[in-house]
Amino acid sequence: MESLCIRVLKKDGEKVRQKLIELGAIDKDLKIKSENGELLIPVVKPVEGYGTEKADFEELKKEASPAEILGFSPAYEQIGDIVILDRYEPEAKRVADVLLRQNKIRTVLQAETSISGEYRTRGLSILAGERKTETIYTENGCRYMIDLAKVYFTPRLATERLRVANQVHDGDLVVDMFAGVGPFSILIAKRFPRARVIAIDKNPDAVRYLGENVKLNKVKNIEIREGDARGEIRGLMGADHIIMNLPHSGLEFLDAAMGILKKGGIIHFYAITHGDDLFDGLLKNIEEIAHGMNLRITPVNKRVVRPYAPYQYNICIEFQVL
Ligand SMILES: C[S@@+](CC[C@H](N)C(=O)[O-])C[C@H]1O[C@@H](n2cnc3c(N)ncnc32)[C@H](O)[C@@H]1O
Repeated sequence: MESLCIRVLKKDGEKVRQKLIELGAIDKDLKIKSENGELLIPVVKPVEGYGTEKADFEELKKEASPAEILGFSPAYEQIGDIVILDRYEPEAKRVADVLLRQNKIRTVLQAETSISGEYRTRGLSILAGERKTETIYTENGCRYMIDLAKVYFTPRLATERLRVANQVHDGDLVVDMFAGVGPFSILIAKRFPRARVIAIDKNPDAVRYLGENVKLNKVKNIEIREGDARGEIRGLMGADHIIMNLPHSGLEFLDAAMGILKKGGIIHFYAITHGDDLFDGLLKNIEEIAHGMNLRITPVNKRVVRPYAPYQYNICIEFQVL
């Protein structure tokens, strides 16, 4: 098909192609072609600084999406090259076969149980593809090695993790009480090399992967502690930020956290609450704990992070302790 295009020397091809992508000018449906040692790059509009001409191009075949092939949109979560299908997906085997045809998907798992237990893990079965549960996942510029059968992980908190990281300053003491494989801790440590990050988890597998991920991301300012968060934070003082991402039982650890926070420091507290009372009941509980320690809290932010289950929401309340 005929299209507007830009002619460049082969040696400049990649640089120009990247520039055209940035400008949203490249025509992604057409194949770049080579002619007399030069490249012809199809574009959707003229681009300042480059001359344009017209030429014929081959159309690239578009890969049909899983929804187009199946006739419905299956519910699944992709983490690295592994997909986890919803526990109640009725056509799991067919969906798995279609997903496996997609680029970058090596394994399809299905959830067998809900996320449960102290370590917040779930039962998974291998439906199709390579028999593995370990993958590497990239989020906010950091890489994480994760065994999905042994540790907690959800990619649905990517924006939330960035939002928390944006509140930290270089030099801060940050305590991540329920760190898992490290998606809050590593992001913060990488962005703020002079911050001191203490990352705690009770699950030995999570701690092992956290260690791998510290190496993978070449961060030097994380101290990993394996054990119960209440005990592991004993003796610390003057924390600027404490991340408490244990939404079902975080309140049990709040007095210990308040005890090590600097005056004016911030606690990022996650919980699951009902749609009828998203924040008020929880805030009252938090105030009572503070009151019992002769402290006061000032909420600085409260927000719904994501829907969790029917009428239930994963929320975050951030508050200063004074
Ligand atoms: C909801 S996950 C959050 C993990 C991580 N912050 C993330 O965003 O992926 C909670 C983590 O807390 C850990 N955990 C549960 N109870 C704990 C305790 N008493 N002390 C320390 N870690 C605990 C679990 O093993 C799990 O990795």
